[in-house]
Amino acid sequence: MTVKRIAVSIEPELLEKLEKSMRRRVYRNRSKAVSDVLRAWFSRDEWAAGKGRRVGAISICYDHHTPRVLDRITDIQHEHGATVIATLHVHISHRECLEVLVAKGNAEKIRKIADSLASVRGVKSCSLSAVA
Ligand code: NI
Repeated sequence: MTVKRIAVSIEPELLEKLEKSMRRRVYRNRSKAVSDVLRAWFSRDEWAAGKGRRVGAISICYDHHTPRVLDRITDIQHEHGATVIATLHVHISHRECLEVLVAKGNAEKIRKIADSLASVRGVKSCSLSAVA
């Protein structure tokens, strides 16, 4: 494989984070690390821009003591009942619940469902993984 050499300028803090992350992931080659980050970035863009049916996993962690959090999360899932095809619920601590939703359909719609869930009061984290 031929490669091209480029020079980039980045803030020292960002470079420090890159090197720390490389050590954690046991990367020895900065070019390989940057290439892999770019590939992951493009792969997510391609997933989002893709036509046809896509599959995504939305993971949310929430505090089930927050008033109406469960109602709101359930409402969103019912509003998108044709797209949200499976859910997994795990009680991870006295207060916290983890819910993983498998969504199948238009990528933009899946992203909007994830954004709606992320905005619910009581939801501490929400991530969308592009599966297929
Ligand atoms: Ni629970």
